[in-house]
Amino acid sequence: MRPDMQCIFITFSIIPFFYGTTTAQSDELPTLALSEDDTFNFDILGPLGQSVYSGGDIAPILRAAKQLEPGNFTSFTNAFYALANETKAQAEDPKYAYDQVNVRETWFHAAQYFRRADNYLHDDWSDPLIYTLWEEQTSAFDKAIAALPIPGERIQVFTDDFTIEGIWYLSTNKEAAHRPTLILSNGYDGSQEDLYHTVVVPALARGWNCLTYEGPGHPTVRRNQDLGFIYDWERVLNPLVDYLLLNRAEDIDESRLVSFGFSFGGYLAARAAAFEPRLAAVILDGGIMDVHEAFMGQLSEELVEIYDAKNKSAFDAAVLPLLKNPEAPSQLRWGLAQGLWAFKIQSPFEWLESVRSYNIKDVVDRIQMPVWIANAEAEGFFPGQPQKVADALGERATLHNFTGAAAYHCQSGAFTELSRVLFAWLNETLN
Ligand SMILES: *[C@@H]1O[C@H](CO)[C@@H](O)[C@H](O)[C@H]1NC(C)=O
Ligand SMILES: *[C@@H]1O[C@H](CO)[C@@H](O)[C@H](O)[C@H]1NC(C)=O
Ligand SMILES: *[C@@H]1O[C@H](CO)[C@@H](O)[C@H](O)[C@H]1NC(C)=O
Ligand SMILES: *[C@@H]1O[C@H](CO)[C@@H](O)[C@H](O)[C@H]1NC(C)=O
Ligand SMILES: *[C@@H]1O[C@H](CO)[C@@H](O)[C@H](O)[C@H]1NC(C)=O
Repeated sequence: MRPDMQCIFITFSIIPFFYGTTTAQSDELPTLALSEDDTFNFDILGPLGQSVYSGGDIAPILRAAKQLEPGNFTSFTNAFYALANETKAQAEDPKYAYDQVNVRETWFHAAQYFRRADNYLHDDWSDPLIYTLWEEQTSAFDKAIAALPIPGERIQVFTDDFTIEGIWYLSTNKEAAHRPTLILSNGYDGSQEDLYHTVVVPALARGWNCLTYEGPGHPTVRRNQDLGFIYDWERVLNPLVDYLLLNRAEDIDESRLVSFGFSFGGYLAARAAAFEPRLAAVILDGGIMDVHEAFMGQLSEELVEIYDAKNKSAFDAAVLPLLKNPEAPSQLRWGLAQGLWAFKIQSPFEWLESVRSYNIKDVVDRIQMPVWIANAEAEGFFPGQPQKVADALGERATLHNFTGAAAYHCQSGAFTELSRVLFAWLNETLN
């Protein structure tokens, strides 16, 4: 029996699915709704939130938002692609090229809008825009970081199996020779460029160095090396710590290396910390114990039944058509499309099977350093998971519960509050 599609939709629409969503329905949103489509609301709030740290300008984003039709992914791509083109033309205007402040601000904004235009394309892996928009965002971002007072520097760290892509930001703090250093990973869909406008700017302002990076499954490595996510993330983090100790010894305080995982990066950073004793502390925004459990908790009973019967063809036949169905909730379509693409698995059934390995249960005892964990009250991606990680870690964990305006997944739109709380904990913990 084919499952009742209506029932699948209802289940998915009541409990939104992946990064890019909140659990709240529109009348329960923590903020003014920017779209009737909750997922578009979140994806407009994202760049608005980053704009306080040079990641965009408010009226242009709201003008793009005005052109969106709920559930119409093409309208999202077109609105932000047009804005990106326009902003790129402004960045290229020779009249303002004398002004380094303008150069970096305008290129940062153009990069942001190219990234947003890419957000809803991944249901079709062969869409050439997935590559052209990313080349545009990378090139724009590179022009921006080259115009910083201390330019950001692209680095690569080679392993036997893949190349890690990173950006090194040296602290502007000249008082101390050796500065504390954050090593930052994004999650399910976010890029290392996004991290600049969420955590790197406030970290640099507080005297930290930052190394952002992307490993398998992350935007650049997925595109350029054709690699999906791996569960054993220490294969990415260990070489980065080696790199810092070897190549940045003059600038870092070796006793204050901190790993930061954003969103799904909350699993990745926790897993890696179990195999990286050289870290002084770990930040999980938010904490994730068991990815498979969290994903299964979002399925309708009918789908769970087909999945548990291990009927791959029936499960895939029920799920795959949702990708192209404009009637299906945006968060479901987006989450599925992004997950299959980023893990590089065509079959939803096989994808869910593969995430069984993304579980820190067996390694959590090996995490020996202090861990700060964010819980977001309106979390839609991994509700309940931060508490589980905190319980498993016991005294090593500090759980912070974000509510009110900061209640969105990853404190989207409230990054000042995030950094206020986060850096106070680091200051107290590392002293
Ligand atoms: C989606 O939006 C685009 C405008 O960006 C429009 O051309 C297209 O007709 C819309 N699709 C539907 C099904 O309304
Ligand atoms: C943006 O500019 C490119 C050319 O650089 C063009 O191909 C594309 O159609 C433009 N997109 C929009 C939405 O204007
Ligand atoms: C899997 O589901 C399909 C479609 O519902 C059905 O025809 C088939 O018999 C099932 N296979 C098994 C092994 O249960
Ligand atoms: C977070 O705060 C909300 C509102 O006070 C509460 O309902 C929820 O249980 C808290 N969650 C955690 C993990 O403390
Ligand atoms: C904590 O903050 C104080 C005041 O800014 C500063 O002097 C100290 O170095 C900070 N400690 C750490 C570990 O960041």
